Amino acid sequence: MTSTTHLSQDFPRHFLRDDDLTQAQQADVLRLAIELKAARTAGLHPKRPLEGPKTAALLFDKPSTRTRLSFSVGVAELGGFPLLIDASTSQLGRGEPVEDTARVLSRQVALITWRTFEHAKLEAMAAASDVPVVNALTDLLHPCQILADLQTVAEHRPGGVDALPGTVFAYVGDGNNNMANSYLLGGAVAGMHVVVGTPETHLPDPGILEDARRAAALTGGSVSVVHDAAEAVAGADVVATDTWVSMGQEAEAASRETPFVPFAVTPELMAGAKPDAGVLHCLPAYRGKEIDASYLDGPGSWVWDEAENRLHAQKALLVALLEAREGLPFPGA
Ligand code: CP
Ligand code: NVA
Repeated sequence: MTSTTHLSQDFPRHFLRDDDLTQAQQADVLRLAIELKAARTAGLHPKRPLEGPKTAALLFDKPSTRTRLSFSVGVAELGGFPLLIDASTSQLGRGEPVEDTARVLSRQVALITWRTFEHAKLEAMAAASDVPVVNALTDLLHPCQILADLQTVAEHRPGGVDALPGTVFAYVGDGNNNMANSYLLGGAVAGMHVVVGTPETHLPDPGILEDARRAAALTGGSVSVVHDAAEAVAGADVVATDTWVSMGQEAEAASRETPFVPFAVTPELMAGAKPDAGVLHCLPAYRGKEIDASYLDGPGSWVWDEAENRLHAQKALLVALLEAREGLPFPGA
């Protein structure tokens, strides 16, 4: 099968932030993701940039189900070998410098993904790595999740990827976490109107908000932060939420509930969104806390497609990163 998606030239070396991609590059990745999904359903795997197999090092400092699964399956389907590394039991966990780890990994693997705490450590890994480094979640951002979410929106709404610009996208809940930051940045790159509804005590990262405003100015999108949940979802095409207790915040769990209760995704809140609005949640979810169970378990839930799309969106991203590195013309036959 010959790919019909033409990825833009000048693809970045690494994918650490949502705005590492231009609007055109992001749209190309999403189109390729949709194409790879259809091919897989037909039993085809047309892109094999890791054939050999070449190894991808998948490093995790935090728990994961979806990210670990989708990168492992994705790397295998691209012809490669997924090497899962529990970073806490590696020398990295005992304080070996990130840069030394990057140099050692670069001599043996074709790609590195890393889920960790401080975003600066991921940047240090990328700076010292000769092979592409991909953000598998940091405290600041979760950009691979946003690619899967955008793919899900494109699949469920008329117009597909071309209709992402202008989509009204509301996120309600903890505005001070990686998902809020990535929705702002990735949504702005897509040309969407992103509204974050969160208490005044849990604002998005100010630097990310500024960067999102800058991205939105280029794409015709917009970003805003409001403190009333009904105002946030008014007229929304899509409503997203996330846990109120992110990984690493478990000790504060008790105090992290009350402020967010008004921002829970319930049928009452959704009554203010567009009648056909879809609901997204990156998972894991806490039914009856940030989201009513009906949006996960009811007919028409988008959430399971969203979880599956981690596989397709990340495969497309890896194809783009690896083909760019090989100097191959996009998309390659
Ligand atoms: N959404 C997500 O990243 O899930 P995991 O933590 O299970 O990887
Ligand atoms: N905000 C959540 C996302 C989990 C995928 C966390 O960081 O735990």
